[in-house]
Amino acid sequence: MEDIFQTIGTEDIQENIFQLIGKDWMLISGGTMDHYNMMTASWGTAGVLWRKPVIITFIRPQRYTYEFIEKQPYFSVSFFGEQHKDLLNLCGTTSGRDLNKMTIDGLTALQTPNGAVGFREAKLLLECRKIYFDDIDPAFFQVFEVEKIYPSKDYHRFYIGEITRAWKKR
Ligand SMILES: Cc1cc2nc3c(=O)[nH]c(=O)nc-3n(C[C@H](O)[C@H](O)[C@H](O)COP(=O)(O)O)c2cc1C
Repeated sequence: MEDIFQTIGTEDIQENIFQLIGKDWMLISGGTMDHYNMMTASWGTAGVLWRKPVIITFIRPQRYTYEFIEKQPYFSVSFFGEQHKDLLNLCGTTSGRDLNKMTIDGLTALQTPNGAVGFREAKLLLECRKIYFDDIDPAFFQVFEVEKIYPSKDYHRFYIGEITRAWKKR
């Protein structure tokens, strides 16, 4: 990894987190090098919790990626440049149940030190340790504008991932 990435601290992430997650989007990847899957996400947040740098991802239970994130203690989050937007669109509109995403040209898997799967093409890569999860509970909605996002009651499960390592492209 060291040939293409430089290890950085989370405080060295220069990009605006609202831009990174909400506009550039991220690829959440679960599983192992033998069997992994990834999906695009644009809802999430990053910051500090329990004295740790964290990223919180929100994954609906019907996503194939959900099964992978459930099984492994680590997952990864990758951010890409604009030239990879088509691949992010593909991973955000097609399920790994219908397309083996391990065969997608232009997304080359790599293993992080704790066994998560990231991508060489990423401009920023985060290795995350699952430290907490919960499901959105409709009993706690305070406003209908959010509640109506779930007509199928497929409430997101959110995973709080401790960012155990971060790399930026050299
Ligand atoms: C821009 C964009 C953002 C998305 N954000 C999320 C998200 O935050 N959470 C989620 O569960 N699905 C999100 N999706 C939908 C999944 O990426 C999509 O359903 C994908 O096909 C799931 O793949 P999988 O079944 O292989 O896991 C997003 C899709 C797009 C295009």
